[in-house]
Amino acid sequence: MLSTKSAQVVKATLPVIGAAIGDIATAFYKRMFTAHPELERDLFNRGNQAQGDQQSALAGAIAAYATLLVAEDGRDPLEVLARIAHKHASLGITEDQYPIVHEHLFAAIVEVLGDAVTPEVASAWDEVYWHMAKALVTIEKGLYAETGVADGDVWRTLVLRRRLQESPDTVSFVLGTPDRSALPEHRPGQYVSIQVALPDGARQIRQYSLTHAPEASEWGISVKAVPASRGNAGAIVPAGEVSNFLHHNLFEGDEVRVSAPFGELVLQESASPLVLISAGIGITPIIGILHYLAGTGSKREVLVLHADRSPARHAHRQELKELVAALPSATLHRWYEDLGVRSTRDVLSAGRVDLELVEIPADATIFLCGPLPFMQSVRHSLIERDISGADIHYEVFGPDKWMASA
Ligand SMILES: Cc1cc2nc3c(=O)[nH]c(=O)nc-3n(C[C@H](O)[C@H](O)[C@H](O)COP(=O)(O)OP(=O)(O)OC[C@H]3O[C@@H](n4cnc5c(N)ncnc54)[C@H](O)[C@@H]3O)c2cc1C
Ligand code: HEM
Repeated sequence: MLSTKSAQVVKATLPVIGAAIGDIATAFYKRMFTAHPELERDLFNRGNQAQGDQQSALAGAIAAYATLLVAEDGRDPLEVLARIAHKHASLGITEDQYPIVHEHLFAAIVEVLGDAVTPEVASAWDEVYWHMAKALVTIEKGLYAETGVADGDVWRTLVLRRRLQESPDTVSFVLGTPDRSALPEHRPGQYVSIQVALPDGARQIRQYSLTHAPEASEWGISVKAVPASRGNAGAIVPAGEVSNFLHHNLFEGDEVRVSAPFGELVLQESASPLVLISAGIGITPIIGILHYLAGTGSKREVLVLHADRSPARHAHRQELKELVAALPSATLHRWYEDLGVRSTRDVLSAGRVDLELVEIPADATIFLCGPLPFMQSVRHSLIERDISGADIHYEVFGPDKWMASA
């Protein structure tokens, strides 16, 4: 809890801090990366920085946390921390880095808000920051302990065993320990971070969901290459750095830096029906969950819904069908925007996912992964059908701007 005095000041200043927090976050990153260029080069995702995505995620999280801290509706502020802590743990963030963020964040607040930052206001927001930081550090230390590593020591070097072109823009990679020793176990739905040394010397990190572990010494991931595109004003948006680097440079026998598995979107043991909904590359955690269900002989009722551009562009298409066929109570429905001339029984229709065509069990646990607009529209349809928001779990393949805007 915040002290009563700080809670009052935070409540009174939330609107002004909330309105300025985008500017504060931009000024904060500028200051921090000027003082610590190595953080921009080797830790933060510079694609997200260029797009402004990470700024909005951090800004949204602090505002959301402060709002919950001072609200009296009984919601737990820790709710917003799990995803951040797992992401931090997958990057090896440690307690000693929090004062760096604090220093530059508070300098940025003063830069943006000037004289409005009285000592009283500064001290109240200081309390919010350290409240959040301490809670994050505690969760992160717990995750490191569970993983059996020293704080932040999450990285290991793996070797590429096999690669397979899954679709025109997606390659799957099987990574293994050089001596075939066992890798730590992961929970279905989790991801690893991958760090690569780029041609300009930067060591950039991205996350990839684990699709399966073919052997105890192996992990599988699948990477969709992000192409260059035209932005709103017609300017060229550069191609994704790490996905294309992996496609063009990671071949059998090459070494790659991989973190331990993290992620809070995990399948819980339960007998409730499962609904697994994905679009495009969002299929990867779903494939991970299906491998787990098939490997453990699960008898759960499972409804699998997948949408893709076309059968030819659908990565893991055949594997998806085989995994569903291996489960005694599973059903698959696919939607393709461009169906071509073929049609099979489990393809419901050409076009986008239409939940009117399927029956969603009322007590189902739902996992959702795909582009943000797809997830927002599916979640909206589910809620309209009286499915509780608490039963809908989702993974955003980037900074969680959805949480930030919730
Ligand atoms: C939990 C989690 C799980 C994930 N699982 C998977 C998975 O299983 N498979 C998978 O393929 N991906 C997955 N992702 C996404 C993955 O981590 C990467 O975000 C993705 O591969 C793109 O990375 P990149 O380095 O190629 O693109 P980046 O270089 O990070 O670029 C990201 C975006 O920013 C744009 N951009 C880059 N530079 C600029 C600029 N100067 N101005 C404007 N825009 C710019 C790019 O065009 C691109 O659209 C996951 C992400 C998360 C968080
Ligand atoms: C109270 C302090 C902090 C808050 C509120 C915070 C918040 C966040 C949030 C909301 C995200 C995005 C999570 C997601 O949706 O994927 C994030 C990611 C991240 N954080 Fe923090 N963070 C804090 C401290 C730190 C510290 C101390 C460091 C280390 C210097 C750090 C480094 C990172 C990095 C590298 C990412 C991933 C960025 C990316 O890939 O674009 N954070 N943080």
